[in-house]
Amino acid sequence: RKGKTPEEVVKRYLQKVRNPPEEDCTICMEPLGSPSGYKGPGVGSVSRGESVGRLVTCGHQYHLQCLVAMYNNGNKDGSLQCPTCKTIYGVKTGNQPPGKMEYHVIPHSLPGHPDCRTIRIIYNIPPGIQGPEHPNPGKPFTARGFPRHCYLPDSEKGRKVLRLLLVAWDRRLIFSVGTSSTTGESDTVIWNEVHHKTEFGSNLTGHGYPDPGHLDNVLEELRAQGITEEESLQR
Ligand code: APR
Ligand code: ZN
Repeated sequence: RKGKTPEEVVKRYLQKVRNPPEEDCTICMEPLGSPSGYKGPGVGSVSRGESVGRLVTCGHQYHLQCLVAMYNNGNKDGSLQCPTCKTIYGVKTGNQPPGKMEYHVIPHSLPGHPDCRTIRIIYNIPPGIQGPEHPNPGKPFTARGFPRHCYLPDSEKGRKVLRLLLVAWDRRLIFSVGTSSTTGESDTVIWNEVHHKTEFGSNLTGHGYPDPGHLDNVLEELRAQGITEEESLQR
């Protein structure tokens, strides 16, 4: 089956705007009433009547061609994220390289969670060659510090976070390929936008326990990636 074109994907999430407001498109900074400032490869011409669209859920308005250009700059997974309010249309996926996610319960308690045992997650990603969804396709990427071990309390909320992390893993959102802010190395596997605790009995790095807000923060970060409890039940 032939996939949808970028323009078809974008239009699926848009309503037509017949009379654009006197505002600028925040993607290209040109007025919505003027043509898109974006003239690049892969962006065809559009008729005047459909040059501006309104995203159906959040209502933010952009030039159709600007949204198509933005979509083409991403990993073209059929989803779109409003650049203003981050509302996600469709199912957002990332560019995490192939690897393994495993977990088990260990019979020890984390600082701050004395009443329960601990879930240990083990991520393993080997080095490889970057694909078209990565910053430098065809070039190798490194993978440092794997297997990476992470910890969650084995409480009701900790298990909920685990369920959502499993969804995030399937959607390739836990890691990405880029430049590590810790080491400065480029073309390497890095954590994406969901924080993990990699220290067990101490907190020397700031990525340990106790941290009373941690589980709620992670749930919020997962929500920002489009992953909620309702989603994980639909799977
Ligand atoms: N544990 C957990 N999260 C971390 C750690 C760590 N030791 N170091 C950084 N992070 C978080 C950062 O707060 C940031 O939000 O990961 C995000 C990306 O940071 P980078 O430094 O770009 O990520 P990366 O290079 O993958 O991580 C550095 O984390 O797990 C360790 O072995 C890994 O030493 C490496 C370190
Ligand atoms: Zn929006």
